Amino acid sequence: MKNVMLVFGTRPEAIKMCPLVRELQGREGMRTVVCVTGQHRRMLDSVLCAFGVVPDYDLDIMKERQSLFDITAGVLSGMREVLGRERPDVVLVHGDTSSAFAAALACFYEHIPVGHVEAGLRTHNVWRPYPEEFNREAVGLVARYHFAPTREAAQNLLGEGKEASTVYVTGNTAIDALRFTVKREYAHSELTWARGSRLILITAHRRENLGEPMRGMLRAIRRVTEEYPDVKVIYPVHMNPLVREIARAELSGCERIHLIRPLDVPDFHNFLARSYLVLTDSGGIQEEAPSLGKPVLVMRRETERPEGVRAGTLRLVGTDEETVYENFKRLLEDRAAYEAMARATNPYGDGFACRRIADILQAE
Ligand code: UD1
Ligand code: UDP
Repeated sequence: MKNVMLVFGTRPEAIKMCPLVRELQGREGMRTVVCVTGQHRRMLDSVLCAFGVVPDYDLDIMKERQSLFDITAGVLSGMREVLGRERPDVVLVHGDTSSAFAAALACFYEHIPVGHVEAGLRTHNVWRPYPEEFNREAVGLVARYHFAPTREAAQNLLGEGKEASTVYVTGNTAIDALRFTVKREYAHSELTWARGSRLILITAHRRENLGEPMRGMLRAIRRVTEEYPDVKVIYPVHMNPLVREIARAELSGCERIHLIRPLDVPDFHNFLARSYLVLTDSGGIQEEAPSLGKPVLVMRRETERPEGVRAGTLRLVGTDEETVYENFKRLLEDRAAYEAMARATNPYGDGFACRRIADILQAE
């Protein structure tokens, strides 16, 4: 019996790891143990509930306005105890969060092999995104298995000197998650409100955008929305109080902008599938939107998802107010520019990444 432990703690990790938990639970000869760090609380629990995943361990580390020190120290000491008790054969972590980094570090200290899901994404600038580029490189340093979502991500790893036999191209498990969630029949009161208008979906949360960059991009969104009566904006605001303060200050009082609580993932995916356009600084949404044919203006200075930019669905616009304003306006006015971006392409896989990862682990 092989003991596989999955460790994750934030909303996006949970969305991309829960389908893998489900896949591994169905495999013979494998015992699956789920440890959540609780880096996010409500946003994590909502995903666990949507996928019916019940954790075996919960480090429950979240604090209001937590620092990177809080997260890293909390996960590292919590993992010491869990690893001591379970001694798993392999621990799977995901992506680039501080939960993933600290869990991988704990495994390194305990000589336990790590499998890195969504490996090999790089901006090649350790400060951007902050601290995620550092986290993903650090996990890559200790990982025994690198599950790269695309060939380009695998190339990044090989270029850093990782052994070819440890690098696998699997697709991104985000696309597996979409297979669970997007439904033809779907209704929600917010969508009823937006019916007959062009629905713009907004999300923003990146640490490096907190403060003036986020204020500037939200001001641009407000200006454009006020100019176009056929546009309605839904912004499920991240639970970070620093984000909530900025969103309220810049966007409240505009009747065609709804600031709402974070949506449960099945709701968010169905909103995405029915939107006209997305403006975001999120990583995961850059992977989901191309497969649904939704243009995305990425409000960041760089992206580790160049495949979506090349496919034409993503455009990197930065956080400068005037640039966001111009690009947003153009996609509302210029039908040809919009159509050129609104093509469903799928650079991130066919929705069977979890099956591939489980096959690899089972074959070892
Ligand atoms: C974290 C990850 C980031 C990822 C993002 C996804 C790190 C350093 N950052 O950033 O890579 O893109 O998650 O959303 O790993 N909060 C709640 N309830 C929740 C979730 C958050 O109240 O369910 C509040 C808390 O006050 C918390 C704050 O949000 O202190 C920030 O959460 P944190 O995980 O530190 O940062 P994120 O910006 O969410
Ligand atoms: N998402 C969600 N509810 C929301 C907003 C986003 O379920 O209200 C999902 C979205 O579909 C994507 C993930 O959350 O899968 C992205 O999370 P986030 O933007 O917080 O983190 P990132 O991907 O930037 O790390």
